[in-house]
Amino acid sequence: MGEDLQTKGFLDIPVDLSLDLFAEINKLKKEKNAIILAHYYQDADIQDIADYIGDSLGLSQEAAKTDADIIVFAGVHFMAETAKILSPTKKVLLPDLKAGCSLADSCPADKFAEFKKQHPDHLVISYINCTAELKTLTDIVCTSTNALQIIESLPKEQKIIFAPDKNLGAYIKKKTGRDMVLWDGACMVHEIFSLEKIVKLKNQHPGALLLAHPECEANLLDIADYIGSTTGILNYATKSSANEFIVATEAGIIHQMQLKNPNKTFIPAPPNNSCACNDCPHMKLNTLEKLYNCLKYEQPEILMDKDLIEKARKPIEKMLELSAKFGL
Ligand code: 13P
Ligand code: SF4
Repeated sequence: MGEDLQTKGFLDIPVDLSLDLFAEINKLKKEKNAIILAHYYQDADIQDIADYIGDSLGLSQEAAKTDADIIVFAGVHFMAETAKILSPTKKVLLPDLKAGCSLADSCPADKFAEFKKQHPDHLVISYINCTAELKTLTDIVCTSTNALQIIESLPKEQKIIFAPDKNLGAYIKKKTGRDMVLWDGACMVHEIFSLEKIVKLKNQHPGALLLAHPECEANLLDIADYIGSTTGILNYATKSSANEFIVATEAGIIHQMQLKNPNKTFIPAPPNNSCACNDCPHMKLNTLEKLYNCLKYEQPEILMDKDLIEKARKPIEKMLELSAKFGL
């Protein structure tokens, strides 16, 4: 079992195909006082069995307040790690330990520490999509839901380092005019949208609104009708009087958009390859079978050093305090 976790990242135990996994998972959840938190980018069946589905901010708020004994985090590693940091006494499980994040990987803590030394009078604001080690080098964590408000709450003359997403950083810099130095990181999913194919789609669907996540590149954001986090995109589409939308973020979000708006049409924005929609290969490593095994055997578990938890918690708690103040 231990060998599996190290080499494969998940428990490779065959699941009986005759099992009703929804019923089995619900039974295990009750027996173990467990909660399933899922990001919008998870497969539809994982979203359907989850107790809470949300964006990075909502998921961390939920992880901080749950009274469950076990948190099964259906998302990627930095999200499960954040849940462990906020609820260190709980057992936090991730169905596949190899569910990483290209954005978090683009900012190794040792390289960032050198970068930070070159800008000693700057405050460090880090997007939550980063490792716990990076969070220990951070003053305030943010997500795409609260990044603008957090930056705007700082004194105007405050110099800022923004890491690791250069696209979100550039978007905020443009919106606020703040003095910001950007780390050169990006998300592989949001960077490969094809502007050309999206413009063609817009021409074919003149009534459709283009909704984009701020992790997308500036040339795409420039033509978007709405820019926001996954929750922002979902809420905007639900409130909008338009009936058709082109969705420029990971395609998993469309499941909730469609459930909340059965009469509206959602078109996934195409990437710059032969696929019709854009899936995050890390998020999609989690499956219902892996989730079932993970809850049944309580592995793989997120294990962290106490000192790392303490140091990484401070900038996340600052974010949660500010978000509460902003009513987010
Ligand atoms: P949000 O859920 O905060 O919108 O972030 C999107 C994302 O890329 C998560 O990995
Ligand atoms: Fe990371 Fe991008 Fe996948 Fe989100 S969508 S987990 S930022 S690689």
